[in-house]
Amino acid sequence: MSLSVSLLLALLGPCLALDNGLARTPPMGWLTWERFRCNMDCVNDPDNCISENLMKAMADRLAEDGYAELGYKYVIVDDCWLNNTRDGEGRLQPDKDRFPGGMAALGDYIHGRGLLYGIYEDIGSETCAGYPGLQGHFQLDAQTFAEWGADYLKIDGCNERRADLPEDHAAFGAELAALERPIVYSCEWPFYELGPHNYTAIAATCNLWRNTHDVQDHWESVVSIARLYSLLEAEQFQFAGPGGWFDPDMLIIGDFGLTLAQSRVQMALWAIWAAPLIMSNDLRAISAEAAAILQNADIIAVDQDELGVMGRLKVQQGDDAQLWARPVLPRAGDATSCAVAAVNYGSSATELSFTPALAGCAEAAGGYRVRELYSGADGGLVQPGDTITASLPPTDALIYTLTAQ
Ligand SMILES: *[C@@H]1O[C@H](CO)[C@@H](O)[C@H](O)[C@H]1NC(C)=O
Ligand SMILES: *[C@@H]1O[C@H](CO)[C@@H](O)[C@H](O)[C@H]1NC(C)=O
Repeated sequence: MSLSVSLLLALLGPCLALDNGLARTPPMGWLTWERFRCNMDCVNDPDNCISENLMKAMADRLAEDGYAELGYKYVIVDDCWLNNTRDGEGRLQPDKDRFPGGMAALGDYIHGRGLLYGIYEDIGSETCAGYPGLQGHFQLDAQTFAEWGADYLKIDGCNERRADLPEDHAAFGAELAALERPIVYSCEWPFYELGPHNYTAIAATCNLWRNTHDVQDHWESVVSIARLYSLLEAEQFQFAGPGGWFDPDMLIIGDFGLTLAQSRVQMALWAIWAAPLIMSNDLRAISAEAAAILQNADIIAVDQDELGVMGRLKVQQGDDAQLWARPVLPRAGDATSCAVAAVNYGSSATELSFTPALAGCAEAAGGYRVRELYSGADGGLVQPGDTITASLPPTDALIYTLTAQ
């Protein structure tokens, strides 16, 4: 790269994402927390307690049911895997009753299925559920995770002084960077910080970061995250990109709380935001319809688009209808294509009209080929000023690609 180009990038550069070569597109996978919480009752509920058996069962489903080949690769255990105390040498250790094979063997199993291994910890003195935290042990714990074969760490922020969040996340990140093993670093730092957040520092430290409450298994929770992202998007979008992503938390598609229409809303929003696609559901008992939403390859391609641009809110129509858009590949000449999500949070059907130009697609000499990704319907060839109308049932979404010709 020439000096002038690098200088230009440094001047224009929206962010300097963590350069560990990882998470060049948003991570995809499965996490225990929203669905299985801190269920430790393996006596009465052996199939659903946090255990190596649950992790292996979900790894099997990811590998065998088509998820892995679409990109859902990380199998992540959240809180409540730990023993109450460190071992005699001060190392973290799992609860031996629920993880009798140990954490390294679990990693081997997951890797043997062609998947990647994620583990939860907390930057403070204890995890949120009260197990030993990383505080005071950053180097040893980073080395332990590497020995166990971890590929991803979800680092929570309970039991930590707010003022120490930046320094401690950077210090633990430095320990991860010193390892030979590349490990994705997922942080909850901005969520625990009162703000203002220094996203320059956060993006230089973490591969993904949470700034919202935990998603819960109901529609109102998804809407509240969407409302927050609507308020923050103008500030946020510039900090997202290859290597660093805003994490609006888990996909709850396939759980109890969302209708299929509402599931389409969550999938469309997460894809247009370039969000990590980390499911928390029971893949052993998921409807074919919910699985089809999670496995929509066209929508996953929007999420995983290599430009890595976080979508912007383009239209707010009343309280409940929104249009979000992001530039995506392929290009035609200098013109990028666009992805557009039309979302209705309300309980009445509505229509939302837009032009490609409004979505940021005004340049392609040959116009744009429109396709709706849930139905697969071909919307024909349109010019930048042409009107496209999305007819939205209550609490439902449509998502389009406008492919530059
Ligand atoms: C927890 O660790 C202690 C001390 O190393 C050990 O005695 C105990 O058996 C462990 N319990 C479980 C459930 O792993
Ligand atoms: C934010 O973090 C960056 C990178 O660490 C630093 O250079 C900058 O001074 C910080 N900004 C503020 C306002 O603290």
